[in-house]
Amino acid sequence: MNNKATPLLTTNIPELKLCNRGKVRDIYEINDTLLIITTDRISAFDVVLPSGIPYKGQVLTGLSEFWFKYTSRIIENHLITTHIEHMDNPVVSQHKDILAGRTMLVKKVKVVPVECVVRGYLAGSGWKEYQKTQTICGIKLPAGLRESDQLPEPIFTPSTKATIGHDENITFSQVTDMVGKELAEELKEKSMKLYLLARDYALDRDIIICDTKFEWGITENNTTILIDEALTPDSSRFWPRDGYASGKPQQSYDKQFIRDYLESIHWNKKPPAPALPPEIVQKTSEKYLSAYKALTGKSLI
Ligand SMILES: Nc1ncnc2c1ncn2[C@@H]1O[C@H](COP(=O)(O)OP(=O)(O)OP(=O)(O)O)[C@@H](O)[C@H]1O
Ligand SMILES: [Mg+2]
Repeated sequence: MNNKATPLLTTNIPELKLCNRGKVRDIYEINDTLLIITTDRISAFDVVLPSGIPYKGQVLTGLSEFWFKYTSRIIENHLITTHIEHMDNPVVSQHKDILAGRTMLVKKVKVVPVECVVRGYLAGSGWKEYQKTQTICGIKLPAGLRESDQLPEPIFTPSTKATIGHDENITFSQVTDMVGKELAEELKEKSMKLYLLARDYALDRDIIICDTKFEWGITENNTTILIDEALTPDSSRFWPRDGYASGKPQQSYDKQFIRDYLESIHWNKKPPAPALPPEIVQKTSEKYLSAYKALTGKSLI
């Protein structure tokens, strides 16, 4: 493996102020900007695994960058640059070897505390809720839908940004109570617009975007902009168009080999997670790279 293919599991840049280590990303603060570094960590069943996936960080960063650029004509976003040399920071430059290709410098803004999920198909927590109540986030749906069915039209199904535990689905009127009617309407309208644009683009490239989550922030001059990552396999459910059939769960685009392997060894899904065999790591890496290629039309390596 060349240097770039060696998975990066964690970063340690003591000269910068670490503000968050998520399951996948390490985030540092530089004045009024954030340095979002996507490592090669991967989680399954909500537990971070000890094995990294080569090129995963570059794929997620490259895809976010691709979508930020593709959608910037309709929606403003937080991306400043992914080029180390444009970040104009000696500490960042010093760590160029590990940061290049996996790092975004973004405007730091006030985060709107709502996960803006848009669903075009019935899966995950949406499918669970539908089976119980025939609704998702209070939205009434037709009877008789099956798992993975395409919805008559995409729906906005927000959830809370839980700091501990799982995010919880909320109704649009709860969003209104939290952030006010005007902003709630804006979040919904912008999230739906983005989903529709991306859904059509991806479908032409044989990827179904089942659902996706957007986050929004408010700038100093009170503009609502798209933040975080966008339309990546970590923030969305991507399904290969080939082999799609409703009435059952779909194969996950990226993590299916890992899930199947972990089920096969009967891991109890509690930490610590077992290491993955090299062939599972390799196949997963290839899946991420193929999603990148399908969506951007370019090979990452
Ligand atoms: N431009 C931005 N300005 C301010 N905060 C941002 C910006 N972009 C993203 N964020 C915030 O940074 C945090 C990123 O954390 P991250 O998603 O990596 O980990 P997490 O949410 O703690 O855990 P998980 O790995 O489960 O997602 C999120 O809270 C997100 O809202
Ligand atoms: Mg997050």
